[in-house]
Amino acid sequence: MTDLRKKIKILIVDDIPEARENLKKLLQFEPDFDVIATASTGREGLDLARDLVPNIVLMDINMPDMDGIAAANELRRSMPAMAVIMMSVQGEAEYIRRAMAAGAKDFLTKPTPAEELYATVRRVYEIQEQTFRNITINTDEGAGKKSLAADGRETHVIVVYSPQGGAGKTTVATNMAAALMREGTKVLLVDCDLQFGDVSIFLNLKPQATIVDLIKNVDDLDMDLVENVLVTHDSGLRVLCAPHRPADADLVPKDRIPTLIEKLKGRFDYIVVDIPTALDDLALALFDMAARIMLVVNPTLPAVRNTLAVMELLDSFEYPQEKTVFVINRYTADLEKAGITLKIAAIESKMRRQALTIIPMDEKRVLYSVNRGVSVIARDRNQSPAKELVALADTLRTNLSPQLEEQDQTSANQAPKSRFGRLFGG
Ligand SMILES: Nc1ncnc2c1ncn2[C@@H]1O[C@H](COP(=O)(O)OP(=O)(O)O)[C@@H](O)[C@H]1O
Ligand SMILES: [Mg+2]
Repeated sequence: MTDLRKKIKILIVDDIPEARENLKKLLQFEPDFDVIATASTGREGLDLARDLVPNIVLMDINMPDMDGIAAANELRRSMPAMAVIMMSVQGEAEYIRRAMAAGAKDFLTKPTPAEELYATVRRVYEIQEQTFRNITINTDEGAGKKSLAADGRETHVIVVYSPQGGAGKTTVATNMAAALMREGTKVLLVDCDLQFGDVSIFLNLKPQATIVDLIKNVDDLDMDLVENVLVTHDSGLRVLCAPHRPADADLVPKDRIPTLIEKLKGRFDYIVVDIPTALDDLALALFDMAARIMLVVNPTLPAVRNTLAVMELLDSFEYPQEKTVFVINRYTADLEKAGITLKIAAIESKMRRQALTIIPMDEKRVLYSVNRGVSVIARDRNQSPAKELVALADTLRTNLSPQLEEQDQTSANQAPKSRFGRLFGG
């Protein structure tokens, strides 16, 4: 159940100390506001926003280092569920236009009368909640059942698999799913590792309900139940978490999972499924319904051998050529050069396809993210390995939903060159 009295978490970003203090004092009078931090530069604001995940960022425009417009732009890309309200002494149309273009949800001229400030924060928060959380609480209005496929979206299921434990399936699944998120796109990540599912740890989610609660009612699903069971990540990504304890895996009849996913189609643009290493009936059923089977392989001999065996099995099912794709994870150029790990070209030739992306080995960045429960891509998207994970999502989007891609040409232009283009001549 969602706590209706949840406070609105606010971050203030302004380079002038008095401006920060005044704003903070004003906001502190209101019981539903919680000023969780203040920052004095755009860069600092960005870092705090990523670490503390406020609901609302009150952002000054003119600041040294990174200005408010650039910071808002960056936030829109990496954390679309966070709402920026731009503040400036200048209230001219040009300023407002630039703020809106950077994705700001509203604009306030400084100094702002208290009532206007309060009303704006509450209004923006409410709209943002509705857009991203889409939470239906069991109130009187919410009691009527909604048809599951009411959105009528074309849903692409992407199953992430590797026969090798620790290959990076969950790392790829969580980051790719978060990178697929953007305004207007709905993404669901399903953790099908019923015994040791760790998606909730990777994304620092504290699920009250899990797949156990949904599978029980799979024959009689309604959207209220689904909304209450799914958890929302800060990126706006919806997540269906694995059972809390390994023993609870027995409460989930595996043969019902494909039906459950089938029923959730139509509500999301993408459903990303993270599955364990077992190549069992569940895996095969999920492969059947997938638009893409994404194999994660490390550049080592056993990993490549086993992945190749899986690829051959999949090819024997006569799936379309483009359905089975693979990514190389934990790549180190030095080790390749020294002949210690397999050469990329050799792996690609064995797989008879090119890797969609090559994710470098980076203990520091990946481990840091995992241990703090933030996605790798929530930090700097232009740096490896975030860059490769974002590129992977962009490649899939271009291939699976060209119409969605057209709506967001700007971000596509910024994405590193897709390897998919070379693959299928797109
Ligand atoms: N590219 C990488 N560089 C460094 N460490 C990685 C990389 N990819 C994954 N890891 C680490 O390897 C471990 C296993 O990854 P995980 O995604 O859980 O694998 P799987 O889901 O296939 O078992 C995690 O601790 C993760 O931090
Ligand atoms: Mg895993």
